[in-house]
Amino acid sequence: MAESALLQVHGLGHSFGAVKVLSNVNLEVPHGGLVGLIGPNGSGKTTLFNLISGYIHPRVGEVRFEGRSMAGVPVEGRSRGGLVRTFQTPRVFESMTVLENIMAGCAKAGGAGMLAEMFALPGARRARREMQEAAGEVCARFKLWALRNEPTRTLPAGQRRVLEIARAVVGRPRLLMLDEPSSGLNDADVRALEHWIGQLRDDGIAVLLVSHDMDLMGVVDTVHLLYNGELLVSGDMSTLQADPRVRDVYLGA
Ligand SMILES: Nc1ncnc2c1ncn2[C@@H]1O[C@H](COP(=O)(O)OP(=O)(O)OP(=O)(O)O)[C@@H](O)[C@H]1O
Ligand SMILES: [Mg+2]
Repeated sequence: MAESALLQVHGLGHSFGAVKVLSNVNLEVPHGGLVGLIGPNGSGKTTLFNLISGYIHPRVGEVRFEGRSMAGVPVEGRSRGGLVRTFQTPRVFESMTVLENIMAGCAKAGGAGMLAEMFALPGARRARREMQEAAGEVCARFKLWALRNEPTRTLPAGQRRVLEIARAVVGRPRLLMLDEPSSGLNDADVRALEHWIGQLRDDGIAVLLVSHDMDLMGVVDTVHLLYNGELLVSGDMSTLQADPRVRDVYLGA
């Protein structure tokens, strides 16, 4: 039997009150694979991310990660296990520096509160030094080193997105879910983002990418079109672009 995919979503459905938002969603992300999710506004992409990452719990269906059911596993447990997501609106600690934000990614279970706690414990100095080293290495790799001591609120949009990815990467995810990382970015920033997503692939990190930017979607192997809460078409990018249903409900819109 073939090895199971890193992420498996089976028959997932969700409603908010009486409003059905997702129904019978099935998708997989292979180990180290790049998978895309497109769909019109309100089609349920972020809700699917929230279900996979554990912010909300499915009414029906199942999320499995590394062969294990995620039912009952909280957000922090999933994140510690390597299932990490970013948000449509960047969530960074504005008053912290770039390097401190990346260090916060080392303590991914609890963010700033966890950091403070760790520093109060015996052996904290060594833990802090190790975190600093790991964060410094990732900071340099993502070309943020020159900005490491800048307060995060001064960063332009493109570098803010890169910082979010760097902060996730320092925690060694197996799967990184990116919710519209290209929104609000100019063409050069989107090209840079494409480069960094390629680097994730080289690092063996699987990616589930939501984006409205069709050029950026060129980086993924498989794309799923979500429409009214259902996966309507799946395939590689050229298959999707040639499919009349995709043109009707999405590209032509
Ligand atoms: N917490 C909530 N309570 C009630 N309805 C919600 C909630 N979150 C999302 N919805 C609704 O669920 C539907 C899907 O929303 P969702 O944010 O998942 O779409 P999306 O595909 O991410 O859209 P966008 O492209 O605009 O980001 C929408 O109709 C939205 O209004
Ligand atoms: Mg969304």
